[in-house]
Amino acid sequence: MATEQSWPPVAGFPPANSEGLRAALMNAIPEADDDSPVAAQLSLDARRRIDLRGRRFPKPEHTRIITIANQKGGVGKTTTTVNLAAGLAQAGLNVLVIDNDPQGNASTALGLEHRSGTPSIYEVLVEGAPLAFAVQPCPDVPNLWGVPATIDLSGAEIELVSLVSRETRLRRALDTYLAEREVSGAPRIDYVLVDCPPSLGLLTVNAFVVGREVLIPIQCEYYALEGLSQLLKSIEMIRKHLNPDLHLSAILLTMYDGRTNLAQQVAAEVREHFAEQTMETTIPRSVRVSEAPSHGQTVITYEPSSTGALAYLEAARELTERGVGGGATRRSRGAARFNEPTEKG
Ligand SMILES: Nc1ncnc2c1ncn2[C@@H]1O[C@H](COP(=O)(O)OP(=O)(O)O)[C@@H](O)[C@H]1O
Ligand SMILES: [Mg+2]
Repeated sequence: MATEQSWPPVAGFPPANSEGLRAALMNAIPEADDDSPVAAQLSLDARRRIDLRGRRFPKPEHTRIITIANQKGGVGKTTTTVNLAAGLAQAGLNVLVIDNDPQGNASTALGLEHRSGTPSIYEVLVEGAPLAFAVQPCPDVPNLWGVPATIDLSGAEIELVSLVSRETRLRRALDTYLAEREVSGAPRIDYVLVDCPPSLGLLTVNAFVVGREVLIPIQCEYYALEGLSQLLKSIEMIRKHLNPDLHLSAILLTMYDGRTNLAQQVAAEVREHFAEQTMETTIPRSVRVSEAPSHGQTVITYEPSSTGALAYLEAARELTERGVGGGATRRSRGAARFNEPTEKG
């Protein structure tokens, strides 16, 4: 379980509304000099803790539905989904995670029951069950709910092919669920995050049709940008034919190791091409982040004072501050360039 940080000494301190106190405390942390990277990181983390601790994030005007996608595996989709979700929930927002990947990794990290036969996204997509049937509260984080994926979902790509409205099944289920919550007076869900499998099949299409925004995690490694144009083309196709609201709202650089030239080059290249969409926060490579799922937890609850947890909290905050309209249907220079071969406008 999490070790409590030595500073600040009181949980929830400084109080959420004391900006002046936060600023004073942050200024009191001594600057580390440049040739001591460890001291610099510690000093940065101390400031981040003061800045983020106990902070409430603003509620969006309406429910934001964000699909976390990249057809490459192992780039940090699931890690990003669960940690952003926990960060948002911890800051007072109501969050629903939909695990739309048969591997069920998001379900594991959120501590959701997901043995075969558990009501899951499979029953919703393939059998037409209401989403409410499969929603579970996340055991460690208040205000966080999840729809698990079980192994049953692994057959869904094929089973969906022959079903009516196979691309819009998730959208219908979620729209109905959100509307029913509203009618029943249940608290509004502020953020829905949808985790995707590493492919562009029907499960991902359903996630693109339900989402209004796409967040693409990009791992700061060689080949990071390979496949990106294919992904952007798919998003564009869905936008044209099935979901006019869909847009790429954010790119998050993950597993960043600032000591390597390669990571710096990849980050610089992504920022150059996607200046508007790339989030300022980058997620560092961190052992705590990779350990958390084996404890059925997010890093936000597993090791809240770690660099990885702070980075995800900061990313969650940045996400709430990046307006719903930001980047909207406008396509950046980068997106245009990456789409060049077949795009006509
Ligand atoms: N910031 C990070 N630092 C260290 N390991 C990470 C980080 N982000 C993800 N990982 C690890 O990398 C692997 C792939 O991440 P994951 O989120 O499962 O990717 P995806 O969902 O895109 O396949 C997992 O083992 C995960 O624990
Ligand atoms: Mg995954």
